[in-house]
This record gives sequence, structure tokens and C-alpha cells, in this order.
Amino acid sequence: MVTSVFLYYVISFLLSFYCVKSADTQYMKTSIRNYFSNTRHHEPEYKDYKYAAKEYIYGEFFRYGLRTEYHTFQETSVSSTDYFQSVIGIARGTNFGTANDRIIGLGAHYDTVKETKGVDDNGAGVAAMLEVVRQLTDRNRNGVKRKNTIIFVAFDLEEYGSCRGTFDCKLPNVPLAGSRHFLKEWLPVWLSINYGNAIPPEMHGVIILDTMMEYNTSARSQMIPPQILPAFQTAFPDAYASIASDNFRGDFLNLIYRKPTNDAYLAAEFLTSWKKLGKAKYEIESLPLNLIKFSEKSSDEQNVLINFMRSDHGNFWESDLNVQGLPAIWLTDSANFRGDMIKCYHHECDNLQVMLTDENINFLGKTADAIVTTMHKLSEPSGSGIKDDSSHNSISAGGIFGIIIAVIVLQIPLIVACIMWRRNKSNNEQKRSNEFENPSYGNNQ
Ligand SMILES: *[C@@H]1O[C@H](CO)[C@@H](O)[C@H](O)[C@H]1NC(C)=O
Repeated sequence: MVTSVFLYYVISFLLSFYCVKSADTQYMKTSIRNYFSNTRHHEPEYKDYKYAAKEYIYGEFFRYGLRTEYHTFQETSVSSTDYFQSVIGIARGTNFGTANDRIIGLGAHYDTVKETKGVDDNGAGVAAMLEVVRQLTDRNRNGVKRKNTIIFVAFDLEEYGSCRGTFDCKLPNVPLAGSRHFLKEWLPVWLSINYGNAIPPEMHGVIILDTMMEYNTSARSQMIPPQILPAFQTAFPDAYASIASDNFRGDFLNLIYRKPTNDAYLAAEFLTSWKKLGKAKYEIESLPLNLIKFSEKSSDEQNVLINFMRSDHGNFWESDLNVQGLPAIWLTDSANFRGDMIKCYHHECDNLQVMLTDENINFLGKTADAIVTTMHKLSEPSGSGIKDDSSHNSISAGGIFGIIIAVIVLQIPLIVACIMWRRNKSNNEQKRSNEFENPSYGNNQ
């Protein structure tokens, strides 16, 4: 009996590797080409494309079974008449509505400045988020139940907004209006409706994706500007040594978090997930920030630190829901500090031709997979996501030989399903890559 159980698990274990689902890079490419390869800005001439991107995100969240809604807000520092919309998708866990729920968030902004096509900034982040949605909800459909609730948000107006007036912000020069309104307006109301006023649940925290697909193996493609170099070396001695010994190649993801907070837990989980995936040429560097007494630091120091706070996670860090803000980490390629993004950041060449390379999309795929593993684990799932055959529990009599045969036979449907799934997948990929053999870039000049 012991032998057969052992055998069962060995076979299941091997199968789980064979069937392991990794990022659908064709899906990410399609999202980027069709919806995140042109300017998504609020001025009239860019508005239609921006709305199409927003509606696509809504449609995909909905299609994958999330409870989907818009968060509509006004931002008078940008427009006194317009309204803006972030897209929110929720996968309720079984702990939803209770104090035991440990919510996990994933966020990426979909708007752009008007000077850019916004492929890396931040088509990459949204496409990766949709891929994470696809993989996690796929497991749900295959029987996974999660204890914890997951919230996905595509933020509007990350690139615009001002703290003056309505909000009292510690980062006065940082725009980030969409996530600021989300934290001040949407989240407290949603928590109080669904969880009551008494005990807002603790959160695992939020992973923010912004400008994260540029991968560059050239020496010195990772820039650390001289003005911030001493502060960088002091703050991140390990990362600095590692980057310098690798001849400043921009071949790594930046994992940015605050050191003495719950961010560190989220960051450690992500790092473990990343390392488990292999594909070692896509590297990672941890950048743990010490923000204690930020307001007492010199303005020089503050200006250096603001470089690491200039995406939506900055608002989570300074949100006043509790003393330390909410746990949040930022995954990024470092934007204007790397490779082609040095000249293309917030410019026209952050476009398909420059950014949508195989290396970049595979790098993005590894990031998406590591997020899936991290969020899957933190959601406290039960069930594997590959349809489970638990009838081996009922085998109680018969010789060892019979049990072993039964156990092997039980694996057959799983093996067949697995082979068919892989064949189907490669057919689809073939079909899709045919569709994209002759891409037209005409409208993106
Ligand atoms: C890598 O970065 C350099 C600048 O350091 C840039 O000239 C080059 O085009 C980049 N290569 C790729 C493949 O992105």
C-alpha cells in the first residue's frame, strides 16, 4: 500500500512538471499589438484608442469570470469636466467578507503620456496582468478553491494628477492620480460594504507592474546616473555589487520593496517563485528601501528615494489605512535607466518595433509566471488545478500488484488529457503565429 501511494505521488509529481502551464506569450503579444501599441491619453485625438484599451481590459476581466467594474473618478488638476476610469476585477476567496481574508492585489496603469506609444510603459504591465488573470482563473475552472480574495486593477491616470488641493500627499511631485483615488475612494467603501466597519482585513499586499519588459544583455546597458550613484551604492550594496560584476548589463528585473515592513514577505515570496522557474539568464535584483523617517531625510536623499516610489506602489506605501501604509512591491525594468528606454522612455520609440522583441516578451513571460506562482500560493488554494482523481483513496483491499496496476491505470486519463492539452496548445500557437507573420506597423509611426 505504501509503495502504491508512493508511486502514485511520484507519477503525479512528474506529470505536474510535464503539464506545468507557463506564460502564453502569444496572448501577451496580441494584447500589446491590438490595444497597447498606441497613445492612451485623455486629449481628444488619443481618447478613442485609450477607451478601446480600457474596454478591452474590462472585457478580458469579465471573460475570465472576474467580478468586473469601473472605478470612475474626477481629477480636477487634469480636467474640470472629464471623468476617468480604472478597471477593477475581483476573484472572491472563500474568506471573502470575513476578517480572515488576506487580500492580494495586482495593479498596472494603462494610460500613457501623449508623446509615447507606451508599449513598455505600460502595455507590458497590463499584458502581463491579463496573462496572470488567465492562468489563475484557468486553475479556478479546474477546481481550485482559494481562501483569499484577489483584486486586479488597471489604473487610469498614473501619468497625471497633482496632490495639491484634495489630497495631502507626502510625494508632492508624483502624479499617480488613479491609484490615489482608488485608495481614498474605492477601497474604503468596498471594504466597509463587504467587510463591515469594525475589522478591515489585513492584506498580503499589492504587486505593481510598471515598465517591465526591456531586457538588454549589452555591457553598460543598465545606467545608474552619477547623481544617484553614491546613494544607490549605500542603499543597495548587494545589488550594486552584483550589477557591477555583471558589467552593468540590463538583464534583470528590479524587485523594489521596503525593508522593515510586510513588503519584505511579499518580496521574498516573489523571489522564491522567480528562482524556482529556472531560465537563469533572466535575472533579478532585490532593491530593499529603508524609508524610515522619510520626511526627516534631506531633500537630496528624498529625491533619490523618489526614483523608487514613482509608480502606483508609492500611494500604497503612504496610504493612511494603517500606520505603515499597505504592503506593496514594484516590479520594473527601471524604465529610463535601461537600454533603449534611456531614449525611448516617454517618447515615440517606446513602440512595437523597438520593444516587442522575442527576448523582451520571454522576459515578461517569466515575470508573469512568477507572479502567478506567488499569488496562487498566497491565495491559499486547495486542489492542484489539474483535475484531481482522488478515487485511489477508496482502494483498500487486494494485493500490492493489483493496487499498483490500478494506480497506473488511474493516471491514464490524466496522461491523455495532458497530451491533448499540449497538442492543442501547440496547434493554437502555430495558428496564432501564422496570423502574425505579416504584421502591419503602419498605424504606429
Ligand atoms: C541595449 O542597450 C543599448 C544601450 O545601452 C542599445 O543601444 C541597444 O539597442 C539595446 N539593445 C537591445 C537589443 O535592446
